[in-house]
Amino acid sequence: MQQRVVITGASSGIGEATLRRFAAAGWATVAVARRADRLALLAEETGAHSIVCDVTDEAQVAAMAAEVAETGGASVLINNAGGALGTDSVESSTNDDWRRMFEVNVLGLRSVTAELLPVLRDACSGEGTATIVNLTSTAGLSAYPGGGGYNASKFAAHAVTGVLRLELAGEPIRVIEVAPGLVHTEEFTLKRLRGDAEAAAKPYAEVTPLTAEDVAGVIVGAVEQPPHVNQDLIVLRPVAQSSVFHTYRGPLVVKSGT
Ligand SMILES: NC(=O)c1ccc[n+]([C@@H]2O[C@H](COP(=O)([O-])OP(=O)(O)OC[C@H]3O[C@@H](n4cnc5c(N)ncnc54)[C@H](OP(=O)(O)O)[C@@H]3O)[C@@H](O)[C@H]2O)c1
Repeated sequence: MQQRVVITGASSGIGEATLRRFAAAGWATVAVARRADRLALLAEETGAHSIVCDVTDEAQVAAMAAEVAETGGASVLINNAGGALGTDSVESSTNDDWRRMFEVNVLGLRSVTAELLPVLRDACSGEGTATIVNLTSTAGLSAYPGGGGYNASKFAAHAVTGVLRLELAGEPIRVIEVAPGLVHTEEFTLKRLRGDAEAAAKPYAEVTPLTAEDVAGVIVGAVEQPPHVNQDLIVLRPVAQSSVFHTYRGPLVVKSGT
């Protein structure tokens, strides 16, 4: 039987690349996001079933899960929808920005997971298994100045992922966390910096960052491991980024004796 994967935030960046990779590997795919026009194009190109859904709206999430169930179910959920707003200090940032980050990065992840768990359990009948992959970030593992609400929401998503793995113990459902460092996607930093293209280009200057396709490869690889193998936490960064505070800029060269 062809396996089916639901990917939130599939209209751009990592989510879109992950959907394309699953589709190329022969999976049936369900693309979830708010922008109907982008989802329609993606569906046309990949054969994905698309569902327009704001993951912060509980009624829309419930309807999305019902549609997934009615159209063939799913054995894999990729909770990827998310984002950052601002790089302001704790002192100068706004609760409104923090609220929006928590709504999508934490509460959206929880609602989608809760609504789709019965669907994933249905896929486990007989010898079946299921997988949940949560996209957090290295920002969910290390705090940095200006990280504020994004750090707080991704630390929360990291915690929720751990709680979920403990709560699902004994069921054939894997919970995998993928925490990327610097990934150059078209929209992530642009949205974070509220459309300032010049500032948004800076983090990627003189460095080879990860691409959405790099992260997609890691996600699909983890899901395609034998079902008894659970890669709890996968941290991936560009070679030039050795921590959230250390990004080497310029060509990478061998050191002559240290
Ligand atoms: N880029 C990085 O450096 C990086 C590093 C580590 C982790 N991450 C994480 O990886 C994930 C994907 O990031 P990305 O770089 O691919 O960013 P992106 O291109 O901005 O993609 C974000 C996706 O989330 C969707 N989305 C946002 N709010 C939503 C909502 N309320 N309901 C449904 N969908 C929503 C967006 O679609 P619509 O606008 O169409 O809804 C879009 O498809 C995020 O969780 C991000 O925090 C990114």
